[in-house]
Parts: sequence; C-alpha cells; structure tokens
Amino acid sequence: MTNKEIRITNEQEMMKLGGKIADNFPKDGMILLKGNLGAGKTTLVRGLLRHLGFEGVVKSPTYTLVEPYHLSDRMIYHFDLYRLGNPEELEYMGSRDYWDSDSLCLVEWPEKAQGYLPDADLILNIRYLDNERIVEIEKGTINL
Ligand SMILES: Nc1ncnc2c1ncn2[C@@H]1O[C@H](COP(=O)(O)OP(=O)(O)O)[C@@H](O)[C@H]1O
Ligand SMILES: [Mg+2]
Repeated sequence: MTNKEIRITNEQEMMKLGGKIADNFPKDGMILLKGNLGAGKTTLVRGLLRHLGFEGVVKSPTYTLVEPYHLSDRMIYHFDLYRLGNPEELEYMGSRDYWDSDSLCLVEWPEKAQGYLPDADLILNIRYLDNERIVEIEKGTINL
C-alpha cells in the first residue's frame, strides 16, 4: 500500500470519501471511476451527492448511461458507460455539452469510452481486498 492508495473498510467510509471529493472539486471536474461491478463506484457517487445535500435515490444509470443532478450551486453528471456500445454514442447523447459546462462529471466504466473522454482531473481505480476496498489514485490528488 502506497500513499496513492486509500484503504476503505466499509460502505460509510466510501461515502465519506465521496464527500471529500466533492470538497476537492468545488466547481467543475472530470472524475473517472474504475473497478469491477460491486467495487463501490456508485456508493462513492452517492456519498458525494449526499454530502452536497441531495437526498433522493442515487443508483447507477446503467441503461440511461447518464443521470443529471441539478443541485442548488452546480450540476453533477453521473455516467455509467457499462452498456455503451460504441463510444460515438456519447456524441449523440450530447455529452460534450455536459463536460464543457461548469459541471462535475463522474464516469463509471470510462474504459468503454477510451479516447472519447476529455482529460480527467482525477482517476480512481477501486479494487477488492476481501471485504475491504483499496482506492488507488491513478491520476490527480485528493486532500483528505
Ligand atoms: N467498503 C465498501 N465500500 C463500498 N461498498 C461496499 C463496501 N463494502 C461493501 N460494499 C457493498 O458493495 C456494493 C458496491 O456497490 P456499487 O457501489 O453499486 O458498486 P459499483 O458501482 O462499483 O458497481 C454495495 O452493495 C455496498 O454495500
Ligand atoms: Mg455502479
């Protein structure tokens, strides 16, 4: 384990990490979340949204590919590209408008759109270690 890795031992801690990320990106940002199904990517996004005061349901937009959240002070776009057939679909969805605006974008399964996403500010790769999660910071920094 290096200082580029954060050990998370339960769901609450993953949500708290999401809150920290919200604080680290107060305006806009492009955040890529890698890791297998069940790694905790959506849990982290849920924690981020809760921290910003959103109380509704937060689930992975697997079929719609993107879920917008209109919060009082900014827009958050949560992508889940697991079912993205062709990266060019992103263009048809008007995704460029999402990330060109002053919004915070969180993208699950960015691998499905390699080469079609803008430069990320933060790339996290979450892996399992028994019941724990190791969040590896592949790019960028988080002030905890
Ligand atoms: N330490 C942990 N961090 C995050 N989720 C955890 C943890 N331990 C158990 N879980 C469970 O793992 C699942 C993660 O699901 P989810 O966040 O939807 O993953 P993903 O979006 O990566 O597919 C949830 O059911 C959650 O309760
Ligand atoms: Mg998910």
